[in-house]
Amino acid sequence: MKRLLVLAAAATAMFAAHAQAPAFPGSKPISLVVPFAAGGPTDRVARDLAEAMRKAMGGSANFVVENVNGAGGTIGAAKVARATPDGHTLLVHHIGMAAAPALYRKLPYKVLEDFEFLGMINEVPMTIIGKPQLPANNYRDFENYIRANSGKLNIAHAGLGSASHLCGLMWQAAINAKEAMTTIPFGGTAPAMNALVGGQVDMMCDQTTNTTGQIEAGRVKAFAVTTAKPLSNNKLLKDYPTLQEMGLKGFDLTIWHGLYAPRGTPPAVLTQLNNALKIALKDPDFIKKQEGLGAIVVTDKRVEPAAHKAFVSAEINKIKPVVEAAGKFAD
Ligand code: MLT
Repeated sequence: MKRLLVLAAAATAMFAAHAQAPAFPGSKPISLVVPFAAGGPTDRVARDLAEAMRKAMGGSANFVVENVNGAGGTIGAAKVARATPDGHTLLVHHIGMAAAPALYRKLPYKVLEDFEFLGMINEVPMTIIGKPQLPANNYRDFENYIRANSGKLNIAHAGLGSASHLCGLMWQAAINAKEAMTTIPFGGTAPAMNALVGGQVDMMCDQTTNTTGQIEAGRVKAFAVTTAKPLSNNKLLKDYPTLQEMGLKGFDLTIWHGLYAPRGTPPAVLTQLNNALKIALKDPDFIKKQEGLGAIVVTDKRVEPAAHKAFVSAEINKIKPVVEAAGKFAD
């Protein structure tokens, strides 16, 4: 008899717990937090992904993109780390997840502990670009111009730990021009690009998803790409040299984006979200949009959360010495 009572109590508790967990996604929208200003590369990935994931979930979920910028993406990331872990607040971020630990002594979250990793999304090359008024039309002349005007030039980025900041740091160290230029932070590379096109800043390193249109329209000058190999499949950028070809030995930087949820998000919800992500990454419309801007949508095991987390952990260890060599730290 006692055993029956115990079994009945366990069944009731299980039913009650199940009854309490609301069906996901329900009517509440799913917020994709972008830790940079609207209109930039991260925002672009998120908006394209929101549409593809909405389709992948058969319209059962309403996705909204929420821009929470500042401090190189760490403010937006911290917001998601603290969010209710119910699957309705996700983070779209990038290599900045791996760069921030090397640049912030007091980071308000632990990258590998305070997030549930969903899959990766894409890889994006970067371009070294300059304002249209620059008196240089190829990389060699551009680098000579920087040396001839040491201390008088500036470089824009999206805040300490952003992809554009990390690229600028690596590039300035590689050409030994750390003192040659002042760094100008913005809330994202969309506002930074406006300043560059307007001639208020001199140069920037930014992702092709944000620079392709401006280069094509002649509103900025492009000088080189940051990938190890030339972008031979990219009709606009295939003829630009890599920084390695310009003598910067071993320079190889490609930005990646990934999807994250707050730690404690229920496994069943994570599985549902990652299944929708996998379908979205195969969506021809999503792929066309991303590839049209030079990005490559991931298709391999990195869409699996465990592989994504292992990749980011390795990136944290890879970036730390690079940042230390570039000699820039921030509290
Ligand atoms: C970066 O530099 O990290 C990104 O381009 C920022 C952005 O998406 O605006």
